[in-house]
Amino acid sequence: MPTESIIAIYGSPRRKGNTATLLKKAVQGARDAGAAVDEIFLRDLKISPCMEIYGCKHGGECRISDDFQKVRDRLLAARGLMLASPIFFYTVSAHAKILMDRFQSLWVKKHWVEDAPLGKPVYTRKGMFIAVGATKGKKLFDGTLLTVRYFFDVMDMQLWRTLLYRGMDLEGDVLKHPEYLEEAYQAGTEFAKMLLDGQS
Ligand SMILES: Cc1cc2nc3c(=O)[nH]c(=O)nc-3n(C[C@H](O)[C@H](O)[C@H](O)COP(=O)(O)O)c2cc1C
Repeated sequence: MPTESIIAIYGSPRRKGNTATLLKKAVQGARDAGAAVDEIFLRDLKISPCMEIYGCKHGGECRISDDFQKVRDRLLAARGLMLASPIFFYTVSAHAKILMDRFQSLWVKKHWVEDAPLGKPVYTRKGMFIAVGATKGKKLFDGTLLTVRYFFDVMDMQLWRTLLYRGMDLEGDVLKHPEYLEEAYQAGTEFAKMLLDGQS
């Protein structure tokens, strides 16, 4: 059976925080199912915010040279993405958002350089998203999900599943919820199996 590659992106500044713990479980599940998983901790990388200079208009390559290019190449090579981020002011963490904004260069490549039509995503890959917030409001994930969906679209990636958890704030709070950890493990397993089976 061929191994399928998945990239796991840890978006929290906390190395062992709630989202990192959940994503680690999903990674374990995917590996146990036979997938190859490449892990990236955004907090360890130096990635500048997008400077909106649109150097990418000329060929689609971002002109800021830093760790973004490495992450982009690994992400574009993967069949699946597992992204995890805490909710910060009703969206993703700054680490995750900075990475997303740099992918504007890919949007420019597709739609300005290569003239692909807008609003017609062609999904060739899949992703899952894990988020945790401290509060319990009904709209807690609304802003984040718009951001994540649009980011996934730019990468031709269908949002396959979301795992969204409320009411956890301190590092380690997620350990009080073994059912969430089990759900993340199962999601990782299913995600990998789906990619390995080549299901649509
Ligand atoms: C800068 C910052 C902004 C936050 N904004 C929100 C928020 O808008 N809504 C919320 O419910 N929790 C918010 N939180 C709480 C985090 O979402 C919560 O602590 C989460 O469990 C952190 O996940 P992590 O351990 O993976 O980093 C915020 C925390 C920080 C540090």
